[in-house]
Amino acid sequence: MSVLKNKNIILGVCGGIAAYKSAELVRLLIKQGAQVQVVMTNSATEYVTPLTFQALSGKEVRTALFDLGAEAGMGHIELARWADLILIAPATANTMAKIALGMADDLLTTLCLASNAPLLIAPAMNQQMWRNEATQSNVEILKQRNSVSFCGPAEGIQACGDSGPGRMEEPDGLLKSVIDEFDVQAEKKCLKGKKVLITAGPTIEDIDPVRYMSNRSSGKMGYAIAQAALNLGADVFLISGPTALEAPEGAKVFMVRSARQMYDAVFEVIDSIDIFIATAAVADYRPVEKVGQKIKKNTDKLNIELVKNPDILTAVAALPQKPISIGFAAETNDVESYAKSKLERKNLDMIVANKVSETEGFEGDNNALQLLWRVQNNKEISSKKLPYATKKELAKQLMNEIVLLFIKELKS
Ligand code: PMT
Repeated sequence: MSVLKNKNIILGVCGGIAAYKSAELVRLLIKQGAQVQVVMTNSATEYVTPLTFQALSGKEVRTALFDLGAEAGMGHIELARWADLILIAPATANTMAKIALGMADDLLTTLCLASNAPLLIAPAMNQQMWRNEATQSNVEILKQRNSVSFCGPAEGIQACGDSGPGRMEEPDGLLKSVIDEFDVQAEKKCLKGKKVLITAGPTIEDIDPVRYMSNRSSGKMGYAIAQAALNLGADVFLISGPTALEAPEGAKVFMVRSARQMYDAVFEVIDSIDIFIATAAVADYRPVEKVGQKIKKNTDKLNIELVKNPDILTAVAALPQKPISIGFAAETNDVESYAKSKLERKNLDMIVANKVSETEGFEGDNNALQLLWRVQNNKEISSKKLPYATKKELAKQLMNEIVLLFIKELKS
């Protein structure tokens, strides 16, 4: 049976020459058993008549936000709730810009704002409009959203005679993306009932009442992983050092300050945890004592004696009933070899290496990861690179890899 059987799909059609291909798409979706409600923008009706889509979908095509007749049947909020997926094909630069900004000045953009269904966008436009900085920055904004994905555009000769990126994907390719989208949704709950613990952000080690030692971790990588684990249906525990980030909705969040507080918070819950992912940049050392009063600058040199902090990840991975234990390694040089030695030394199931540079690692929104894990009775190390992307995108990919690699352990 097709995964699309009885699925409710809103097909948004915007004004572009590719709109004629969407008629074939409606036919393919219906053939798979989906219910398709076509919503056209005003300019789309200049290219294809609503009657064409109505005949193919068997449903009255919606074109206006303020249509008393249509609203009396299924109001726009009801329609937004009805949808299992909103597919916009073709999506123009204008409609994408409006969705990126959260505007709702016609029925289609209003539905996008009012629905919590995933949104699949198939752009189609002139290659220069696609390449335009404004369009690209809107695409980036949309890609950051967990519920939004893109199909295309493809490259080739365009109706206007130009050649380049901007052609709408063919109906067959779009159908495949819709099926993939529902497959992903079905898998989405693959961590249902599993508990995932993530440490994130920096720790702070106080020197005196006004000074401390810390590092540049923003928490972005760890918080993105927490969100990705929530999206897979996991119960998520996030133990975080101080950050400026908003906690992902649905996670159980414990805010801590120092490495020792993080250690205690982890060991409060660790017994029930299935997967432990240590993204926190934990301070390796702390001052032997926190001075009670502000240190005065009456000497030329000041020595602060430091003592090692407990290693949270090593302690977790040494537990007799240890969870799947995944560490991170941020290195400025020899990234892979340092990461490998951490994998061995800390007895981990996987280490995720990232390079520290101006554009990767700490603080920024983007990163690139290399995953290393043991195979063949722990004798060899396998590895996979996740190329430069937003931390949110990488978090999704990382969680998917973790599920694929450790599915057996997670089922037992
Ligand atoms: O927060 P962002 O700005 O998004 O930046 C993300 C990041 C760069 C901090 C993150 O991607 C990262 O790489 N975190 C690990 C930083 C690091 O190099 O840690 P480490 O080499 O000191 O430790 C290795 C592993 O042991 C880490 O998983 C760490 O969480 C863990 N550890 C380390 C020391 C300690 N006392 N306890 C630990 O659990």
